[in-house]
This record gives sequence, structure tokens and C-alpha cells, in this order.
Amino acid sequence: MRFAVLVSGQGSNLQALLDAQRRGGLAPAEVVLVVSNRPGVPALGRAAAAGVRAVLVDHILHSNRRSFEDALLAELRAAEIQGVVLAGFMRILTEHFVSAFPLRILNTHPALCPSFPGVGAARQALDYGVKVTGCTVHLVDAGVDTGPIVFQAAVPVEDDDDEARLHERIRAHEHRLLPEATRLLAAGRLRVEGRRVRILPP
Ligand code: GRF
Repeated sequence: MRFAVLVSGQGSNLQALLDAQRRGGLAPAEVVLVVSNRPGVPALGRAAAAGVRAVLVDHILHSNRRSFEDALLAELRAAEIQGVVLAGFMRILTEHFVSAFPLRILNTHPALCPSFPGVGAARQALDYGVKVTGCTVHLVDAGVDTGPIVFQAAVPVEDDDDEARLHERIRAHEHRLLPEATRLLAAGRLRVEGRRVRILPP
């Protein structure tokens, strides 16, 4: 199953996917395309280093979401993409994009959904004062961080955490769970029943 990974920044989750692929741990998923909406980000260098084609679809060049999403879709169709992973992709995608890949888009969010959706989830968790936060890997619907949940991992908040430190510990779980969810999706082992996702045996 041919995947595109959409990125906007550091790309440490992209790196986890590429590392899993190199080890043979992502099959039958294959990352064949990386798309960034921002120029010059480290994620683009990671794709190049792994020999995976990377393209820029700069949202700044589009006057509305529809036009941006059409440009994304054109790249994905040209590469015969069958599944999409959002790995730190910082643009909201509308129904127009999501409906092109029904239950074929994964996202990772650095909080325990439905808590703290949107940007700055680790900051939101600290500000609220929760003792436990974490990450959520989920299938994408047209909402913001609302789709059916595949995996969650809990991360205790420590007294001396700042946003960066907490987010780094959350990322470590994302790096484990996002490739695994991608592998299971490609293998047809995620069965969605309403809001619940059941993981089927091999
Ligand atoms: C991740 O924590 C992801 O959940 C969030 O943004 C972060 C991206 O990190 N949406 P990276 O670019 O993969 O390093």
C-alpha cells in the first residue's frame, strides 16, 4: 500500500516511519512520497536522506483551502498514493481532502484525545495542570483530532516539565505507535466499528 507522509516541520515522526521502513517493519505499507506545506523544513532533508521523493506544496501560494487541497490531491494522485500519514502536518484538512481517502488517513496528536485538540497540545496540558497526558494515533475524519482512535499511550506529567521536555517524552511514544498503526492499516487489520477501532489478528 503506497503511502504519502504529510509534514510541516521537524519530521521526527517521519523519521520513525522511514527507520521502520528501512528495517522492513512497515510492510505492506511503503512510504513513497513526502509532502511538506513549508519550504526548507528538516523533514524534507530526512526524506532526501532516505531516498524518498519529497515535494513542496506551499499553502502560502493558495488563496483558499480548496485550492491548496486540490494541489495536494494532484500530487498524491500522480504518485498513485493509497494511504496518507499526517506526521506533524500543521494544516487543517477539510472533508474535500479527507473524503478522497476514507479511513485511509492516519494522524498523531500529542495528547490523549478528546483532550487538548489543535495546536500546542503539550502546552495546553501543562496549563490545565493534568497529571497524565500522552499521544493518540487516530484515523482522520473532517474534525480536528476527532477521528476513531487506533492507539493511545499515557505519559505522566512531571513537576519540572516544560512544554519542550513533556513533548519530547510524548514524541517517543508517537515514534513507536505511528509506524505500527501504518503497518496495521496497510495490512487491512484495522476494523472500524462506529467510533471504535478493533485490531484484527494477522
Ligand atoms: C508531533 O508531536 C505531532 O503529534 C504533532 O506535531 C509533532 C510533530 O513532530 N502534531 P515531528 O515534526 O514529527 O518531529
